[in-house]
Amino acid sequence: MNKALDGKVALVTGGGRGIGAAVALRLAEEGADVALTFQQNQQRADDVVEQIKAAGRRAMAVRADSSDPAEVVDAVDRVAGELGRLDILVNNAGAFLLGPLEQLSLEEFDQTVAVNVRAPFVTSQAAVRHMSSGGRIINIGSNMAERAVFPGFSLYAMSKTALIGLTKALGRELGGRAITVNLVNPGPTDTESNPADGPNADTINGFTALGRYATPTDVAAAVAFLASPGARYITGSTVNVDGGFTI
Ligand SMILES: NC(=O)c1ccc[n+]([C@@H]2O[C@H](COP(=O)([O-])OP(=O)(O)OC[C@H]3O[C@@H](n4cnc5c(N)ncnc54)[C@H](OP(=O)(O)O)[C@@H]3O)[C@@H](O)[C@H]2O)c1
Repeated sequence: MNKALDGKVALVTGGGRGIGAAVALRLAEEGADVALTFQQNQQRADDVVEQIKAAGRRAMAVRADSSDPAEVVDAVDRVAGELGRLDILVNNAGAFLLGPLEQLSLEEFDQTVAVNVRAPFVTSQAAVRHMSSGGRIINIGSNMAERAVFPGFSLYAMSKTALIGLTKALGRELGGRAITVNLVNPGPTDTESNPADGPNADTINGFTALGRYATPTDVAAAVAFLASPGARYITGSTVNVDGGFTI
């Protein structure tokens, strides 16, 4: 049976665990061959690759620190070279550095901007050199860009808000090439960086309309739709997958 993403090649940054792993697996289920980057956890990334291969798709994992532009560009070129093309880029890897304004360091500022803002820019720049008509860029932002409910999120919220502008501007710029660019803003999602049984989970659940955390697969479903041919007329948009956190 034909699948929506048959013949496509996707790259997911930070695809070894959490939301990125769920996205990688879902895109493969939809028929894509999938590459993923990781920073430290090679074993986790290899496990995702094995699952994708077991499902009959090609897959590869590349170590690439998103804060290093040269590593990111090398990873994109390697993926396009080894898998033969690049159709879908998911900018998922994120830095989550929190703290009171007066205690945050310039190093933390630079790291946050490097991973959450510069990397999506540089990775998109490298990826579009390989993309043709029908290409997809999907950025992973955050509900915190729209509603800052807790203190300590200045760097994170600032960086994720930048993705709204990047998404709109690239959507405008790449529209003539039939490449779409969209932003998925997850709400609280059960991963190692924000476990659904963490100390603030009850408070966080109360901020949502649905009263619960998302699973990573909830976010992956939205990404898969935006990557599909059916989403070809959606660009520059923000899709909130936040259980009503921002309403
Ligand atoms: N979980 C939530 O509640 C939530 C809510 C809103 C938005 N988000 C966003 O969703 C995205 C994924 O979050 P998550 O919760 O799934 O995170 P996670 O479980 O902590 O996983 C992070 C993934 O990103 C990779 N990564 C981190 N820093 C990297 C770097 N500098 N270079 C390359 N890869 C890097 C990690 O690789 P290693 O395994 O090698 O360390 C890992 O695969 C992030 O952009 C985050 O801001 C999450």
